[in-house]
Amino acid sequence: MGVETWLLLVSVVVLAAWAYSRWRLSYWSSRGVPTPPFHQFLGHTYKAFKASPGAWVFAEEAYTKYGGSSFCGIYEILTPVLMIGDPDILKHIFVKDFDHFTDRRTIKLPNEPDKLMNDMLSVKAGEDWKNLRNIMSPTFTSGKIRGMFPLICDNADVLVSFSLKQAATQPYVDLKDNFGRFTMDTIAICAFGIECNSFEDENAEFANAASKFFAFPITKVIKMIVSLNLPTLSKILNLSIIPSEAKFFKDVIEETIAARLKGHSRGDFLDLLIETRASLDSSSNKRKLLDNRSLLAQGVMFLIAGYDTTASTLAFSSYLLAKNPKEQQRLRQELQEMVQNHGDITYQGIMESKFFDACLMETLRLYPPLPQVDRMCTKTYKMCGSDLVLSPGTIVVVPVWSLHHDPRYWPEPEQFRPDRFMSENRGNIKQFTHIPFGMGPRNCLAMRFALMETKVALAKMILAADLQLAPGYEEIELEFGFGVIRPKKGVKLALTPLNEECDM
Ligand code: HEM
Repeated sequence: MGVETWLLLVSVVVLAAWAYSRWRLSYWSSRGVPTPPFHQFLGHTYKAFKASPGAWVFAEEAYTKYGGSSFCGIYEILTPVLMIGDPDILKHIFVKDFDHFTDRRTIKLPNEPDKLMNDMLSVKAGEDWKNLRNIMSPTFTSGKIRGMFPLICDNADVLVSFSLKQAATQPYVDLKDNFGRFTMDTIAICAFGIECNSFEDENAEFANAASKFFAFPITKVIKMIVSLNLPTLSKILNLSIIPSEAKFFKDVIEETIAARLKGHSRGDFLDLLIETRASLDSSSNKRKLLDNRSLLAQGVMFLIAGYDTTASTLAFSSYLLAKNPKEQQRLRQELQEMVQNHGDITYQGIMESKFFDACLMETLRLYPPLPQVDRMCTKTYKMCGSDLVLSPGTIVVVPVWSLHHDPRYWPEPEQFRPDRFMSENRGNIKQFTHIPFGMGPRNCLAMRFALMETKVALAKMILAADLQLAPGYEEIELEFGFGVIRPKKGVKLALTPLNEECDM
């Protein structure tokens, strides 16, 4: 072929690519939906990618400047996605018209070991999701959580005595690291009866594997973008987004399942799932949904879903209480009264502590560990209050962070004010503007467990020590890894023991 022919060929290819992307990127404008300015070939992905410290910063721009507080169009590379920030529309998406939005974005990862993710409840779709959720929901009832309460208390005692020991020899303690060890120990014991002893074990095998798992270097981000958007290329390149550390968890859980199937029962979540499976008709589709591979996937999911979310919530709440000593003292007083009335920290006492709950709700408002949630439209849907019709397959993203920081719903949104959530003020909160656990039938499966776990650890800590900001660590830097917001450099606090008994 001559040079002219090559030039002609290249020009045709470039022109075709340009025309194709123009066509794809006119999806929202042709439907009258506003969009932030975008890149001709990369849509908004490059902006979300460039945004620091995380993609929710770009989402905030779309929310405040380009109509996202009602709704606006976003392009994930060339895929149109709808951001909805209007709480009245969200009520329909999450609850009233949930039958049109039962799924999250479909993830079908092509390579081992990623395929394990395809079996997790959090990514299942349609009837399979509904059946599996029905099977798994009873593992997180208040009765079951009450049963786990003593185990959580034991772990929280270890957390506090370890932190106080550190405080005796160091000017400050990295509580984020300690909370990470605590949540790992707690999920492992409550879900699988595994004692990780992360505080005693110098190498803290579980907690170390978990922090590597949740680290998010650029290579992982790129692999993730390619795997989610270009699965064929991902298959050819044999890319895997589940990091090698997951193999450690997979092996441990696999061994535990094998032991349980031989009859070594412990009464934890894994046993509850195995018992449920045994009660199902052997030929039923529901039973197939809980085969050994699925049990393994749900086990790994518990660790992924429960580790960083809960550890970050604990770290953010202790940071905010250290920064707001008056609120810390008010909380301590409520907790001391609770202990006086109930004789100890009890399940009931924690459930009744109203200011405690308000502090946690306010922490989750300021720092929602998951700054964005999504749904996929599964049936043609006409949006309420608009002519826009969504086709099946359209992804809807909900800017949780922006809703939580919108001054229209939260006066002085950056201030830590737990009183917003006290019963006399709760009536002022607009529905669907505080959604740290998502909403509707597909919300966080383990919300009550996560809140109880967080409250026990925080109550023990606040009763044992006064928390103060360490000099030089007054401000918190955020980072974004595996979809979760967390403190970038940990949370470094000075701890002053409040009574001798605790100063072990
Ligand atoms: C403070 C801690 C936690 C926070 C803030 C949190 C938040 C969330 C959010 C925002 C969602 C998505 C909800 C939606 O799309 O509407 C979710 C889903 C989920 N979470 Fe949590 N979570 C926490 C702890 C946990 C723990 C400890 C576990 C398990 C041990 C867990 C298990 C799950 C599961 C299985 C789902 C998927 C549910 C489904 O698709 O049906 N979470 N969580």
